[in-house]
Amino acid sequence: MEIVHVAAECFPMAKAGGLGDVVGALPKYQALQGHIAKVVVPMHRTEFLYQQQWELVHEGSQYLGPQFFHYSVIKEKTNLLGFDLYLIDINGLLDREKIYGYPDDTERFIAFQNAVCDWINSWKHLPDIIHCHDHHTGLIPFLLQYGYDCKDRLAAIPSVFTVHNAQYAGAFDWQRKYLLPACDMLHWSLLDWHHQINPLAAAIKTAWKVTTVSPGYLLELRSSAAGLEKLFDHEKDKSVGILNGIDTDIWDPAHDPYLLFHYTVATVAAGKRKNKEELCRRFGLDPDRPLFCFIGRMVAEKAADLLPGAIAACVAAHPEKINFLILGSGENQIEQQLELLTGPLQDSVGVHIGYQEALSHVMYAGADFLLMPSRVEPCGLNQLYALRFGTIPVVRAVGGLKDTVKDMGDSGGFGIRFEQPSVEDILHAVSRAVALYYEAPATLQKLREQIMQIDHSWKSAATQYLQLYKSLK
Ligand code: ADP
Ligand code: GLC
Repeated sequence: MEIVHVAAECFPMAKAGGLGDVVGALPKYQALQGHIAKVVVPMHRTEFLYQQQWELVHEGSQYLGPQFFHYSVIKEKTNLLGFDLYLIDINGLLDREKIYGYPDDTERFIAFQNAVCDWINSWKHLPDIIHCHDHHTGLIPFLLQYGYDCKDRLAAIPSVFTVHNAQYAGAFDWQRKYLLPACDMLHWSLLDWHHQINPLAAAIKTAWKVTTVSPGYLLELRSSAAGLEKLFDHEKDKSVGILNGIDTDIWDPAHDPYLLFHYTVATVAAGKRKNKEELCRRFGLDPDRPLFCFIGRMVAEKAADLLPGAIAACVAAHPEKINFLILGSGENQIEQQLELLTGPLQDSVGVHIGYQEALSHVMYAGADFLLMPSRVEPCGLNQLYALRFGTIPVVRAVGGLKDTVKDMGDSGGFGIRFEQPSVEDILHAVSRAVALYYEAPATLQKLREQIMQIDHSWKSAATQYLQLYKSLK
């Protein structure tokens, strides 16, 4: 089969979070299973762009409202990632350093989607599947069916749309409909949700199949989806939850190039200890205490706003006995509150504000526990990386966290789960972890060995996606 993935991120070309990890890995595993997998993302000006060699494969032009634009499509020359990576360049619109966060993001992603459809329409043959990811590509399933320039050839291509995060819909006002490529006005209602043009809703209505990144999240979306609950419920028959995998080549404590000390199941105790000592040395923390890490976007979805209060409460409840290390960036107020903590609690708390791929790997390896109090977690990859590195996940039971972490109090369980995104529940969960660390080291060791062997590789998910694609042919 030939599958074209379209997204805003693809690791290592561009990553802001888990979307990048997934789009950088799933196609690789599809290619390994003998399929042709291609990925198309905007040409962001990231380091990767300058490090690789590219060839020009297509040039075209389109309109964004009254504005005529040229675009070019370049391809990474060496198949470095295990699949063909294509970048769309639109001068002045896509060639920027950040992936998101510009005032003209709506225009940027409409132009990107328009260029993607126009380019695929120029191919001599057609792909078997167009697989779009998140709202930045949500208009594509609609355009394939109803875009005047491409529908005659492309309407027959099955589209799959994966919801990685329904908190973001990319909605914009109907007054800006002139930005859209020319399309069949009779079907404009398919773009609408609550009197706005809503790319996420449009994709859910018009994609041939909708997937979410965990089965649990799919169920939750019917009652909690930032206003789209009724739509998810209405489209439930064409929707399926497929749990993400992880790229076990990249996330591998035995070979990770970011780690000074490699380890396997057989050497997990010594291996983690050495990585922890290195990490604690960097942040001035005592490596004999249990180390709790948080890695992620500092936003309400991740309940990062609870961290300052929760950390203060945990340190107060376990004075001299506990360490926290936080890596992330996001809302200024949360960042500042966390940084302020490092003054009075400098012996117990380390904070790094920013995005650092290398540090994140060392933290997964060196931490004893990974804390994820998320209010919303469609899948969550951090807990899967933690498992692979022998780090016990301490998670709120929601979405993909609920699907992947079993509480150690239950038969076969290995993590710590709590119900509410609240300081009280975090404190209780952390206290259970502290007791495990100090009072039951043999159990902790067994759990580490157990979790490192859980298989969350992409094999199963890649097979499920293929079955889904085949059902559409
Ligand atoms: P989300 O996509 O919602 O942010 P996921 O758990 O799916 O959450 O994936 C987050 C990904 O981003 C993981 O690979 C995690 O290690 C990484 N990550 C998040 N914040 C940072 C950061 N500040 N520095 C390095 N990596 C980060
Ligand atoms: C989103 C979700 C996260 C998920 C990731 C990859 O960013 O917030 O839970 O793991 O996408 O699918």
